[in-house]
Amino acid sequence: MSHSRLLDMLLSRPGEFISGEEISRKLSISRTAVWKQINKLREEGYEFEAVSRKGYRLVSKPERLEYSALLHALDTASFGQTVKLLEVTTSTQEEVRLLAEQGAAEGTLVIAEEQTIGRGRQGRKWHSPPGKGIWMSLLLRPKLPLSAAPQLTLLTAVAVCRAVRAVTGVNAGIKWPNDLLVDGRKVCGILLESVGEDEMIRYCIAGIGIDVNLEEEDLPSELVPIATSLKMESGKKADRAVLIGAVMKEMEKLYELYMEEGFSPIGHLWEAQSITTGRFITVKTAQGEISGRAIGLDATGGLLLIGVDNQPTTIFSGEVQFDGCNSQ
Ligand code: BTN
Repeated sequence: MSHSRLLDMLLSRPGEFISGEEISRKLSISRTAVWKQINKLREEGYEFEAVSRKGYRLVSKPERLEYSALLHALDTASFGQTVKLLEVTTSTQEEVRLLAEQGAAEGTLVIAEEQTIGRGRQGRKWHSPPGKGIWMSLLLRPKLPLSAAPQLTLLTAVAVCRAVRAVTGVNAGIKWPNDLLVDGRKVCGILLESVGEDEMIRYCIAGIGIDVNLEEEDLPSELVPIATSLKMESGKKADRAVLIGAVMKEMEKLYELYMEEGFSPIGHLWEAQSITTGRFITVKTAQGEISGRAIGLDATGGLLLIGVDNQPTTIFSGEVQFDGCNSQ
């Protein structure tokens, strides 16, 4: 039998404990099978109270993002106005890539409740369990050279950071170039993938992963020391639809500003949310490690460092590690 019969049974008797014995008898399955299916449902986001001699009681159902709630939360001209909501996919980056190749318009957004092969930066996996995060990708079609793509990465980080702070009050800051951290733990990752032709951008896919309502037990053990969620930080569940609406609004506003005035205002906004500037850092780059004090962004979005030899260097890509010693 599928676990949906078990679920139907629990759903049909809200608030009531149903004993393992009764479930096992009515569904003709063993008590171990009942327990296994309860655990499977827990992984899907259902919460149960289990009390010995009383049985199981459904406490809450997983939240689903609904089109109606999203449309209500979206106050944009185009970003997110075409939106595809998926229960599960490999990666929303792939979904948007397929749509882009079929000619989808700028601002097209794909959101998934769960990703099975969520992609992170530098070939890493992105943990994307069901129902509790925001896993989404936005299609951009800027008429710009490919060399401008890193600036769009910084812009996306600013947009998400501003939206997260406004909606949840969580004090997130940006680690160069585009990780959002709270007290040293990562709460959001951004992956910008660009497809070009003749040195120009054909399209960009801005992938945004936000750990919204995850609990510590939703994180694999290796992520527990380095990751967090907005709920873990604020103690409150955040409304994912409202947060998506706020991110889209910020993205659209900053993108227009960038198209009109270039990178300079975006750079200033990035600095205002930066937790990198002023710190001693080590950056792992393709050319090796570089250490020094981060002094901010240059005019193009590169990270300016004053090295141990007092010489300035600009870094354009790499992985920042804080050296523990903060000069501020
Ligand atoms: C990082 O390594 O920090 C970037 C993580 C980006 C994750 C998001 S989730 C939505 C989109 N789909 C993916 O497969 N990855 C991005």
